[in-house]
Amino acid sequence: MPTNTVEGFATKAIHAGQDPLQWSHCSVIPPLVMSTTYQQDGPAQHKGFEYGRSGNPTRNVLETCLAAIENGKHGLAFASGLGATTALASLLDAGDHIICCDDVYGGTNRYFRTCCSKNNIQITFTDATNIKTVINSIQPTTKMIWIESPTNPLLKIIDIKAISEAVKAVNSEIIIVVDNSFLTCYFQKPLDLGADFVLYSLSKYMNGHSDIIMGAVITLRDDLEKRLRYIQNALGIVPSPFDCYQVNRSLKTLEIRMEKHMTNGLAVAKFLESHSHVKQVFHPLLPSHPQHEIAKKQQTGHSGMVTFYLKGDSHKFLKALKIFTLAESLGGFESLAELPSVMTHASLTPEVREALGIDDHLIRLSVGLETERDLISDLDQALKASQM
Ligand SMILES: Cc1ncc(COP(=O)(O)O)c(C=O)c1O
Repeated sequence: MPTNTVEGFATKAIHAGQDPLQWSHCSVIPPLVMSTTYQQDGPAQHKGFEYGRSGNPTRNVLETCLAAIENGKHGLAFASGLGATTALASLLDAGDHIICCDDVYGGTNRYFRTCCSKNNIQITFTDATNIKTVINSIQPTTKMIWIESPTNPLLKIIDIKAISEAVKAVNSEIIIVVDNSFLTCYFQKPLDLGADFVLYSLSKYMNGHSDIIMGAVITLRDDLEKRLRYIQNALGIVPSPFDCYQVNRSLKTLEIRMEKHMTNGLAVAKFLESHSHVKQVFHPLLPSHPQHEIAKKQQTGHSGMVTFYLKGDSHKFLKALKIFTLAESLGGFESLAELPSVMTHASLTPEVREALGIDDHLIRLSVGLETERDLISDLDQALKASQM
């Protein structure tokens, strides 16, 4: 199906890259191609595919679809979100410098601190809600700015357009990366706001079924795509065709899933905000959120992520939950709850956790697609249990 700019989000998610006429058998659903190698007409004469690491038809379908729904030009899939991060960091050379938002996913923080630094890539973590501190952190060697918005786990909102413009005014060569895993392209389009790359842990909302680990990067830039395509093959951080098939399938319901995540998440956030056992709730669509106005400007909605400070015993609260499962990760159809200080953000140093406010009372929820009143009554009984 030809793609054009007037198509709506769901139309693109369902049809982009899926044209039945690209296959000799005209299957409406793209085939799952598991073959690792392809017959050649003559030595080095092939029809676009030679070896499964360097290219696969099922992966191509997913990458085309990802680029279309992001308003991008090129999509590249990787074996995990951190695999995609590794690939982007491989664009840099020894001596280069990255500025990263301070409240970033713990695994990204760990990768930059312990792996990139071994390759003599310098990292500065800074509060990117303050554009001045980002600009003041720029050095002659700065090559990349790494932003997550909303951040993890405190859901701080970073003004992507303002940062992109301010950074490019200082040095147009600096590459701006936005990790969009918490919102998806349904609610936020960083490329439209000036970013060079959007990065995903597809393991989260984009797949949405908590059964695949995968990552992706999307860009409009031909020069960077070429270098990254080389890295994808040369480092070999590719996903399996089966996983690509599954994620491509999941994208077909992304719009309706995200709408329901938003409704359920907002209902939970409002309930928690009104509860006497809750100290503070973070949800960008609540007027009480410190960057609510920026969220209204750059997001068209919000996912099911809600973070809050509990007034009671968080271990008792988490143990009492019946519908929310105590588990890491996020973005699946099932509701999850976790304690970032000892789970997703345990790899941060105690000093960094304390500075960010990630303590034993901070709880992160990934609100799923269950019936709203059941989720709220589950939280209500667990909040009561936290006081006993
Ligand atoms: C915001 C964010 N980015 C990146 C990652 C890493 O993705 P993956 O687990 O697919 O490697 C995660 C994982 O939790 C995440 O939450």
